[in-house]
Amino acid sequence: MIIKSLELADFRNYENININFSSGTNILYGDNAQGKTNILEAIFVSATTKSHKGSKDKEIIRFGKEEAHIRTILEKDNAEYRVDMHLRKNKSKGIAIDGQKIKRASDLIGRLNVVFFSPEDLSIIKNGPSERRRFMDMELCQLDQIYLNSLSKYNKLVIERNKILKDLFEHPENSVLLDVQDKQLFEYGSVIIKTREKFIKDLNEIIRPIHEKLTGEKETLSVFYEPNVKLEEFEDKLRQARKKDTYTKQTTVGPHKDDFSFMIKKINADDAIDIRKFGSQGQQRTASLSLKLSEIEIVKRAKKENPVLLLDDVLSELDSNRQNYLLNTIGNIQTIITCTGLDEFVNNRFEIDKLFKVTDGTVSSEN
Ligand SMILES: Nc1ncnc2c1ncn2[C@@H]1O[C@H](COP(=O)(O)OP(=O)(O)OP(=O)(O)O)[C@@H](O)[C@H]1O
Ligand SMILES: [Mg+2]
Repeated sequence: MIIKSLELADFRNYENININFSSGTNILYGDNAQGKTNILEAIFVSATTKSHKGSKDKEIIRFGKEEAHIRTILEKDNAEYRVDMHLRKNKSKGIAIDGQKIKRASDLIGRLNVVFFSPEDLSIIKNGPSERRRFMDMELCQLDQIYLNSLSKYNKLVIERNKILKDLFEHPENSVLLDVQDKQLFEYGSVIIKTREKFIKDLNEIIRPIHEKLTGEKETLSVFYEPNVKLEEFEDKLRQARKKDTYTKQTTVGPHKDDFSFMIKKINADDAIDIRKFGSQGQQRTASLSLKLSEIEIVKRAKKENPVLLLDDVLSELDSNRQNYLLNTIGNIQTIITCTGLDEFVNNRFEIDKLFKVTDGTVSSEN
């Protein structure tokens, strides 16, 4: 699947633009705050219905406007698809595929798979568990509808349950609701735990050779799932935690508290170390890069097609070794890259199929 074109109306700092992309390497360059990332965000929204930054629809709509539109034309097996999105300030967004309204966002997700890579992703291992969960969820939600539905139901349940816990003092009669909720939490949470277990298992196969290559065969990287609670203990632990949860007014047990660890073993070392805690900055960044590069392979395997790669300002963050590796990985994948300047690397090493200059909410094609 490739993106043929993107049309925006009142999206962020764009009033009205239409961009035709190449199926190869596309570069968007321009000074800071001109709108480069906004283009990638629009593509991400049309693939996943959500902003990569977690922004709300009303924040994405152009200042002073009531609604925004995104239209993408996709191409797969020589057929074209049109995806229209209509973002509104205080209502949920409307989505249509080839003019046919779709009822649930999950009917769209997975049609266009994107891998979004921003400089912050290089801190995914240094940062807290919520970022790592977000990474995993973003990937799994694109690939697995059952996971997507279970996660959205589970997250809603946690919010509702916390609200009941907060009001329990004034409304003790609500404690019966908690019994029902705990059953559902277990039901949807189990799907989440099982899917994450499998994801980490598959990820290990993919990430290991990538990381070995990136480090010149000097390090071996393994990823371990650290569930907050084991599947077989989930139901019991949830029940046992009720008293504590009532006291803290929070749901303390379940996959919304999961994490995963990254263990690195140097070629001559006896033991592996947990690089979340003991890794050098460079080790953490390289392992984060391995993780992002694995995403491309995960999509390829699951979908039997290439994802679209969105690289937001990451080239300048990598040394030449890593840049070259990335370049080789890109190969024949449709890639949309943003950068502030056309430095030597971009000019000499890339086969640029399409070059765009972004200036204050306008995008002009330069070739
Ligand atoms: N809802 C909105 N309406 C209008 N403008 C907005 C809205 N949200 C953000 N902007 C503006 O969009 C501009 C461009 O943002 P963007 O993040 O795309 O810049 P960029 O070209 O990627 O810059 P950088 O190189 O610094 O990353 C910002 O100046 C910001 O003020
Ligand atoms: Mg930017």
